[in-house]
Amino acid sequence: MSNRDALQRYHENKAEMLAGGGQKRIEAQHAKGKLTARERLDLLLDKGSFVEQQPYITVRATEFGLAEKKFLGDGVVSGTGKVGGQQIFLFSQDFTVLGGSLGEMHAERIAEVQGLALKNGCPFVQINDSGGARIQEGTLSLNGYAKIFRANTLASGVIPQFSVILGPCAGGAVYSPAITDFILMVDGVSNMYITGPDVIRAVTGEEISHDQLGGAATHASISGNAHFRFADEKSCLQFLRRLLGYLPANNLEMPPVAESKDGPDRETPELEELLPEDPKRPYDVREFIAAICDRGSFLEVHADYAPNVVVGFARLHGRTVGIFANQPKFYAAALDINSSDKAARFIRFCDCFNVPIISLVDVPGFLPGVAQEHGGIIRHGAKVLYAIAEATVAKISLIIRKAYGGAFIAMSSKALGYDRTLALPTAEVAVMGAEGAANIIFRKEIAAAEKPEAMRQQKIDEFREQVMNPFIAAGYGLVDDVIEPRYARIELIRSLEMNIRKREDRPTKKHGNIPL
Ligand code: HXC
Repeated sequence: MSNRDALQRYHENKAEMLAGGGQKRIEAQHAKGKLTARERLDLLLDKGSFVEQQPYITVRATEFGLAEKKFLGDGVVSGTGKVGGQQIFLFSQDFTVLGGSLGEMHAERIAEVQGLALKNGCPFVQINDSGGARIQEGTLSLNGYAKIFRANTLASGVIPQFSVILGPCAGGAVYSPAITDFILMVDGVSNMYITGPDVIRAVTGEEISHDQLGGAATHASISGNAHFRFADEKSCLQFLRRLLGYLPANNLEMPPVAESKDGPDRETPELEELLPEDPKRPYDVREFIAAICDRGSFLEVHADYAPNVVVGFARLHGRTVGIFANQPKFYAAALDINSSDKAARFIRFCDCFNVPIISLVDVPGFLPGVAQEHGGIIRHGAKVLYAIAEATVAKISLIIRKAYGGAFIAMSSKALGYDRTLALPTAEVAVMGAEGAANIIFRKEIAAAEKPEAMRQQKIDEFREQVMNPFIAAGYGLVDDVIEPRYARIELIRSLEMNIRKREDRPTKKHGNIPL
């Protein structure tokens, strides 16, 4: 073959490879309101930074007509690129090729970039748009999934992993995203389920649409499987670029420090207005977070799921922190099963990737109720205690109002592992609320009183005044300092700077056994 012919062959192959499933299928993809695998990469990566890996991989199986359905790349585009200058590895499934289905070589290509991401210590992004296991390839497909699940698991805690669901993700295919750290979904585009509506109808008789069963809204608010939900693909991928900018490349690096226009000495007098006089009245803790963090820096995780806890990434004078806050707007901020799961998983991510934790505390305790007890609140609540005790990152707590019982321990206790616990003058630190406490320990006095209700109120007030005020806990050294609301941001930044070099070791072990 002459050099000219070799070059000609190169151009033909490259054009074929770039065309994926061909123009007609690309048009069909667009007609569904979806972008193609390569268009998605263009939106996610810095311009011109994509380096493709193994673009000419193709199917080896020949059964059921696959010999005539050979596509270069085998239905997935993979490689490396940069986001804001930071190297990441990624793949993007190409639905125009056999529905993005996963066969032996498609899986090999994914496993290759998973391996490179882990060896190089770079974040990994997977864009899923696939009909699942390639049915014609049978067990070879299952073998491919198993390799991918294992690679996701081995990379867990070493590099951050993100799954962007931009199409169907059905059957066992859902378990790779589920093992990764964050799942992002888009309304009207993404679907995730183990078995689809048809199988459900056949087995249980239930009628449900694809979207109601496994769309973005469902997973963002009901199941909690999705951490972020977006109106369209573009905003989803742009958000992921922003999120990556908060995180280190791997577990051995610190998160990048951003240039902060918001000064470390900005006072927060608005917090005095925000907190109601009546401790039973709610306020929106998101406003508290917005006030103390660098302006506009809060990226909420799981915003629509278990809203009694608010978690997310923010910046404090340019440093990335993980916010773990109670939200008095929902269930009076009591911790329940779902919010415990949400908080514990977020805390563990922060600890994996050296993100300090800031707890903002206003919590009456764990939620009472038969459903909660029978649902295993003991086990689920224990996850939060475990995650905090296990975490070796800097942990700062600020008690805003209530810090009662086990929830005080989970969110503020130095004995559990917080490095610095601060309290506002409005803080109430106790085993339980004043009403409950007075009813138990002064039961006889109240019953014997001439005016029991007046006596009850007197005892409640006495208890609140004498036992719950933050100077009692500060006197025991359980609260390190009592601070004014207007200095909350300043004090949190100082507390962070004071603990940012912290080193803490744990006994050598294979791994802990968190109550799951
Ligand atoms: C092979 C597949 C495929 C698959 C889709 N295609 N899924 N080929 N294996 N799993 C092909 C279709 O035959 C079609 O090819 C092309 O992709 C586009 O599919 P359409 O059906 O035309 O697209 P659409 O109408 O958008 O529907 C998308 C879909 C549907 C909802 C995903 O294709 C579907 O239900 N697919 C099967 C899903 C499934 O049951 N997968 C296996 C799950 S079991 P042509 O050439 O005809 O256009 C599983 C186990 C994994 O994944 C376990 C791991 C532990």
